[in-house]
Amino acid sequence: MKYNFDTVIDRKNTNSLKWDLFDDEYPMWVADMDFYAAPAIYESVNRKAKHGVYAYSFVNDEVFDSYISWWKKYGLEMKKEQLLFATGVMPSITSIIRAFSDEGDNVLIQTPVYHVFFYVILDNNRNVVENQLIYNPDSNDVETAYEIDFEDLEEKLKDPKTKLMILCNPHNPIGRIWDKEILEKIAAL
Ligand SMILES: Cc1ncc(COP(=O)(O)O)c(C=O)c1O
Repeated sequence: MKYNFDTVIDRKNTNSLKWDLFDDEYPMWVADMDFYAAPAIYESVNRKAKHGVYAYSFVNDEVFDSYISWWKKYGLEMKKEQLLFATGVMPSITSIIRAFSDEGDNVLIQTPVYHVFFYVILDNNRNVVENQLIYNPDSNDVETAYEIDFEDLEEKLKDPKTKLMILCNPHNPIGRIWDKEILEKIAAL
């Protein structure tokens, strides 16, 4: 079996945040997958589980090597010394906010966006600056339903108190992938 995206899996009564938390709502609010993990992941977790001793481990070179070679396929070269292991996206963003800004600084986000972006900024005593996306209600195409307001973005990035921007790509919740041209425009600003 390569990948299996077709089998419908009943996740009820598995302590699932998505399916067991509320009885009376269809859980469209959470980005949680309902299909099987890729066989390589499933087999690796099973191998570990069968070993039976779940003690402290460390991140070995194999992890870094596979990460580096995956990016190399897309033209990005990196060295092990440039990488740090983290257990999630939000813990990493929190560390970045603390490393590259001070309390009282502004952090820019493009709203609407994944709500936890607000918490990590506010919980670290920084200010949220919103660059609201422009909504085109007549469009039903993901590529044009929302656009970046570049004039507003430029204005807000000009503020010396704005030390960071958290870019969400693909953007949650609008589902759009910011392309090379757009990313270059943002980078230039
Ligand atoms: C844009 C975005 N960033 C981060 C996360 C959460 O990442 P993690 O669980 O690795 O902290 C989510 C989860 O839905 C998300 O949508």
